[in-house]
Order: sequence, then C-alpha cells, then structure tokens
Amino acid sequence: MANFAPPPGTADIFAAEARRWRTLENTAASVFSRYGYGELRTPIFEYTEIFQRGLGGETEVVQKEMYTFEDRGGRSLTLRPEGTAGVMRALSNTDVLNGVEQRVYYCGPMFRGERPAAGRRRQFHQVGVENVGRVAPLIDAECIAMLMEFLRELGINDAKLAINTRGVTADRGPAGELLRNYFAQHIDTMCDDCKARLDRNVWRILDCTQEACRKVVADAPDYVASFSAESRAYFDEVQAALTALGIPYTVDPLLVRGLDYYVHTVFEVSHSGLGAQTAVAGGGRYELFLPGQNRPVPGVGFAAGMERLLMVQDALKLNPPGVDPASFYLVGLGAAARMANLKLANRLRRDGVTVALELEERSFKAQLRSANKSGAKYAVIRGDAELEKGVAVVKSMADGSQSEIPEGELFEFLSSHR
Ligand code: HAM
Repeated sequence: MANFAPPPGTADIFAAEARRWRTLENTAASVFSRYGYGELRTPIFEYTEIFQRGLGGETEVVQKEMYTFEDRGGRSLTLRPEGTAGVMRALSNTDVLNGVEQRVYYCGPMFRGERPAAGRRRQFHQVGVENVGRVAPLIDAECIAMLMEFLRELGINDAKLAINTRGVTADRGPAGELLRNYFAQHIDTMCDDCKARLDRNVWRILDCTQEACRKVVADAPDYVASFSAESRAYFDEVQAALTALGIPYTVDPLLVRGLDYYVHTVFEVSHSGLGAQTAVAGGGRYELFLPGQNRPVPGVGFAAGMERLLMVQDALKLNPPGVDPASFYLVGLGAAARMANLKLANRLRRDGVTVALELEERSFKAQLRSANKSGAKYAVIRGDAELEKGVAVVKSMADGSQSEIPEGELFEFLSSHR
C-alpha cells in the first residue's frame, strides 16, 4: 500500500478525534469567557523578528526550532512557534501600552522543529490566554486559577502545579552572577550544552535534564533570596492568593521556563499520564519586546498543549463518545424514490435532523445492510409501489417492527421520532 503519511511530527485528525478537539475548544471558550476573555485569531505566520525579539535570540526555540522562510517579496517570515508574541503584536495596536487591560484567548496550530516523540510534535496545537497591560500579583493568581479551573472542567483534577519567580530584570544580573560563580566551579563535570550556557544563558542550566548536571544543580545557591525585596513580596502575594483560593502548588526553584520574556511569576502544570513530556501547560508573567520598541508590553498568560490535554484525558479514561449516528437511513428503490428521498433528507436536515441516505442504484438487501451498519434508529423505505400508494415504510432498526406512514404525515412523523 502506498504510504500517504503526513510529514514527521504532524498528524491527520479524523472525525471522532476532531470531535474531542472541538470539545476542548468549546470548554476553553466557556471557561475563559467567564473570566472576561475574548477570542483573538492572529496569523499563523509573522515577521521573523517578532519572535526573535519577543522570545529572545538566546532561546532554544529561536535558535533551533523555528520554521523560517523567505516569501516571494524577500520578507523573512516564520510559522508561529507559540502564541504570545503574535498576540502582543496584535494588541500593540490597542491601548495596552497605555495600561489598558486586554484579556484574550486563542487556540490553533504552532510549529517547532523538534524531534518528534509521544506528546511532542512539529505541528502541535495550543489553547492559550494572555492578560495584557496591567501588573499585579492577583492578576497572576487569577490567571493560574483559571488554568486549574479549565483543567477541572475537562475532568483533570490531579494535575500538579509548580510555580517560581524569575524576579524583575534588574534582579537577574546579581542572581545570574551568583549562579555563574557556583557553576563555574563544577563546569568540568557538566554537559557540553551547559558549558555553553554558562556564559550565554546560565539560567537554562537549572533545568538541564542530564544526570551529571542535575547533581550539580541540586546544590546550587538560593538565588531567589538575592532578588529584590519588591520581587520577593510580589511572589509572596501570588502564593498567598493561591492559598486563599485553595489551589495546591509547590515552589520549584529550578523552574525557569524556556522563553526569555518571563519576569516574576512562572508556572507549569504537569501530569503523570504524559510519560516523558510531563508539561500539560506552562506560562507566567512577561515583558515582551516588539521590534523597534524599547518599552516592553507587560502581561501574564499560559498555553496548554491540546495533544497533551487529550493524552491526559486518555490516561484518565475520559473519552467522550464517538460521532453521533444519523437518526434515519433513507432506503430508495428506483430513480423516483431516490429523488423523493433526497428532497425529504434536505427538509429534515434543515429541521436539524441527521439523515443518511442511499444516492445510487443498489439492491434492497445492500441498502438495508448499510442502514444497519450506519447505526440509524430507523430505516425509511420507499420503492415505486410505495410511491404509487403514497406511503413510506418506517422500520425500527432496534426491534425490526415496521409501519406504513402516509406521505403527507411523513415529515412530521420523522421529525418527532429523531
Ligand atoms: P511553552 O511551555 O513553550 O509555552 O508551551 C506551552 C505548552 O505547549 C507546553 O506545556 C506543552 O503542553 C505544549 N507544547 C509545547 N511544545 C510542544 C510540542 N512540540 N508538541 C506538543 N506540545 C507542545 C509557551 O508557548 C508560552 N507562549 C506560554 C505563555 C503564554 N506564556 C505566557 N503566555
């Protein structure tokens, strides 16, 4: 058989599965709108510099994972690797830079050239939110609470929330220096990536997964203690709000997140049902720079991986039922009956009824077999004899009982037995 597989790291999503995706999207819309969030749809590609400047040139995503291309006009464009930067670009056309709050959510495909694995795709999908324009610890806590509420409505009650603070930009220098001095003493035992990170981005050493590096990281100094009093007070207030809301969390000083725009609160939600890729969702407070601007846009938000949400639902055996079968299967023998059925199907469908019907010349037996397979509640059977008599035979597929319904009453009858 020919292999018509889609490119590596992408997938086709067929009807039964797509239905689950729609449920996720609908749940997101329903929960987020209760918190005052409206949907924003931004382009799937942006100018490359939106991500370079927004996410930071030193990030893994910008350095290694972006799908960047030149269009026919010589512009450098990039398929969005995440949603935040594009959302900020769009919102910068509003009043957010003047401190007016905007609450938006989005969902759709994102693209990262990562090595495909279970729960890791090159085209994956996120549902995310951004609360932009204002800065306050309670906004961060409300945002985290909304994420936990979203998961709860999806039936995911046992996800683990980890939080940390990245401080403000001014805190990073002294704290980074503290870490650099410590890691410099042990760098010989660490992996090549961490050797490079020591000067380029010392923070990423904290979440290195290599065993040797993790041993060194375990004894790293408490850099949060070196943050300004203001940063620590901000983080205390976020924690107090989570506690007041009854949301369990752990503080993980090794949680730094991969994107450079974060300040203050960062958070990640993981679930044991995911195997190696444990993060269902991640986010935090950020200051995002747009090209040509030296004042960043402040915001807080998160994104959840839709594939991963579905994997967690699978692990919890939370599979919603498959596609609904049609209520009726119209069996037609002869051209005139088929035409009458086509008209009837149209009328019923306009009335909101799901109808399947036979549109080609096939034997009675074959048509009944299809009716059976379709899962329809009733088969509606007509041939020349029935047309002449002005009736249709309605057969219950459950018990095989049949009744003749006069044509004039057929629509009403079927409409009330859908
Ligand atoms: P992120 O942590 O890079 O954050 O991605 C968020 C979520 O997207 C992850 O927790 C994971 O569930 C999913 N995800 C990421 N990469 C893949 C992949 N290759 N395959 C499948 N799922 C994946 C962000 O993207 C930030 N923009 C979140 C944010 C919004 N921060 C503030 N506002």
